[in-house]
Amino acid sequence: DKGNHRHFMQKEIYEQPVVVAQTLRSYLRRMENEIAMPDMEFDLGAVKRITIVACGTSYYAGLVAKYWFEKFARVPVDIDVASEFRYRDPVLEAGGLALFISQSGETADTLAALRHAKAEGQIIAVVVNVPTSSMAREADLLLPTHAGPEIGVASTKAFTCQLAVLAALAANLARAKGKLTTEEEAEIVWHLSEAPAALNEALSRDGQIEAMAHLIAPARDVLYLGRGPDYPMALEGALKLKEISYIHAEGYAAGEMKHGPIALIDELVPVIVIAPSGPLFEKTVSNMQEVQARGGKVVLISDAEGIAAAGDGCMATIEMPKVHPLIAPLVYAVPVQLLAYHVAVAKGTDVDQPRNLAKSVTVE
Ligand code: M6R
Repeated sequence: DKGNHRHFMQKEIYEQPVVVAQTLRSYLRRMENEIAMPDMEFDLGAVKRITIVACGTSYYAGLVAKYWFEKFARVPVDIDVASEFRYRDPVLEAGGLALFISQSGETADTLAALRHAKAEGQIIAVVVNVPTSSMAREADLLLPTHAGPEIGVASTKAFTCQLAVLAALAANLARAKGKLTTEEEAEIVWHLSEAPAALNEALSRDGQIEAMAHLIAPARDVLYLGRGPDYPMALEGALKLKEISYIHAEGYAAGEMKHGPIALIDELVPVIVIAPSGPLFEKTVSNMQEVQARGGKVVLISDAEGIAAAGDGCMATIEMPKVHPLIAPLVYAVPVQLLAYHVAVAKGTDVDQPRNLAKSVTVE
């Protein structure tokens, strides 16, 4: 049932504040200011290396998690798309933790990668939305997302719920490694608890984003740029646009622009820049200015501070609430989802059932 929404995708985008709150409830003890994890039959503090494997949007959640695990817990992370992991003969040391991320829990490549890692003696953790799925059954550590059924082929609410679980896991790992003080843990709990309200505020920009869809809909190519944990958000924005509007889009690390892709820039290629104010802002903005100097038409997604500092000369801006960098990827997922959604609606494509795609890819 789509309720009063036109598409499942739209309904699912709007469910995010509620389902992220629902998911966080099982990973945060708000009263005690602590992260809560399911019981583990292994010593998380002894984990020396993490291997993350997933496909599509779930893979992008994994890319964000890599930043968090390395930054907070100082644990090195390898990450692969499942179809590459399976066949590259990865070096897996005994006692390593292999983490699989999947909405459906049935994606063929991810499941095969899980079985391979298990056979190689890895501890298997899964972040999965369908609790009865194959991956859920085969895990040593099951970390469910509570997004509810996701019907739209384009993953939206499953993604932000995955990020919520992965942020909690990063904090838990950091604590187990002795890298997090009680105060720091309390701060993380506090920032994560603010995510649902920030998601609501991000959703309140919907009308403004809808009004700018006509700027993107005629384009043949669109570029998305971001840095640090916002680089995967650029990849996710581009994937969303590709799959539902059929416009060619690419996400790039902002600093990579001048190593090739900047040759694509002209006034016909819109460039979406994802740049919350913070430690990486100046760097991303200088890449954005390189684009503008070549006639590129920029849509800047930032907060009021970022837009005041760098919004002049942009074709359009989308203002997000000012949030802690930890929850920025969750919050900035919303405008890229909405932009893809409205562009697809403007183009008249089948938003919930895009051509050539299946919700769950159960064949290799
Ligand atoms: O069910 P999974 O999370 O394992 O699915 C992985 C990908 O097939 C999925 O994220 C796909 O990329 C979506 N259509 C993206 O919107």
